[in-house]
Amino acid sequence: SGDGDPNILNLPEHSTTLGQAVATNGYGVPSKYETNLLRRESPGLTRVSAASVSFAPLQGLFGIITPSGLHFERHHQGWHDIDPSKHRFMINGLVKNPKVYTMDDLMRLPSVSRMHFIECGANTAMEWGNVAVPTVQYSHGMLSCCEFTGVPLSVLLEDCGYDKKNGKFILAEGADGSSMTRTISMDRALDDVIVAWGMNGEMLRPENGYPLRLVVPGVQGVSWVKWLRRIEVGDKEYGTKDEAIHYIDSMPDGMYRQYTSIQECKSVITTPSAGQMLLDKGFYNITGLAWSGRGKIKRVDVSVDGGRNWRTARLEGPVNTKCLTRFNINWVWDGSPVVLQSRAIDETGYVQPKINELRAVRGTRSIYHNNAIQSWKVSESGEVSNVQVY
Ligand code: MTE
Repeated sequence: SGDGDPNILNLPEHSTTLGQAVATNGYGVPSKYETNLLRRESPGLTRVSAASVSFAPLQGLFGIITPSGLHFERHHQGWHDIDPSKHRFMINGLVKNPKVYTMDDLMRLPSVSRMHFIECGANTAMEWGNVAVPTVQYSHGMLSCCEFTGVPLSVLLEDCGYDKKNGKFILAEGADGSSMTRTISMDRALDDVIVAWGMNGEMLRPENGYPLRLVVPGVQGVSWVKWLRRIEVGDKEYGTKDEAIHYIDSMPDGMYRQYTSIQECKSVITTPSAGQMLLDKGFYNITGLAWSGRGKIKRVDVSVDGGRNWRTARLEGPVNTKCLTRFNINWVWDGSPVVLQSRAIDETGYVQPKINELRAVRGTRSIYHNNAIQSWKVSESGEVSNVQVY
């Protein structure tokens, strides 16, 4: 009759011809039909792109693992592709035996592999005052989650004989030109910090610190020092420039709060999210991500009426500690305007706050640690946009 779908009725060329040979791409690349899914820089955010951010396209990702090539990037002074045969890692300061390790020295030690999220403390920074960005990629995309492989820092500190009485802090230093150094308490350093070379089953990508980076689970991204070259053991906090004038929380009384490193419990709906379009009324799977720097996600609730009523979403396994958790919930859209929200609760019982609750204690002029509930408005036309609900 000629009314059928030609994609069903006509045999495509690929069903009648020989395909390409194995190893045509020695290192596989995404389909040519997937070229729109990219990490993106927010135009005008910083003066030079070497000291900027590229955001991960959360709206296009499934599950909890961020593909290595789409991991967000944040560099203070650009990235480098460092020759691993020349890279050295040193531990000094309050230790009995200061040591310099090669990559080979490190990679023969007992390693661990763990899945963790990394979130920049400045993620969602633009939204403190008002709605500022058009998509979830820009509002929440300084967030990624990978399986990291490396040697526990505790093993290396023991190897160097750290001073158990006076060694209260460590300072981590990278090999780039940014002089970015971070203090980490010895308790945390001995707990779950990893000196990592692996990411998603392969070596770290250069943008993410190849050949060596610090993984500090639950802590803001700035402490995950990339191109890691040195750890010094000390007896007090170092108060470096990135701890004294950057990465501090402005408070409503005009004071600043230092060393707030934990990324508190947070969640966001990634589909439907701002910039997307619902094609028609009917069934949709609402999906998103939840995470907490204090442990596991216990529950995620979803509202489709701007926070008046909540339903509990399904958590997809695995639910790991200090790791992204994927949630899903069924929804039938009746075509009327709605506001979608998600609210995460972690295993400590902490509940993700509303934006006005957070502003009451933090003010509106902050940059860091905005973990407020995110609202997406679906208008009658099906267009989804970023809104704030008080
Ligand atoms: N480490 C070094 N050496 N230099 C840097 O500029 N940026 C930090 C941190 N480690 C940075 C660094 C910041 S602010 C963040 S949020 C994370 O790396 C980002 O890690 P990513 O680029 O792998 O996403």
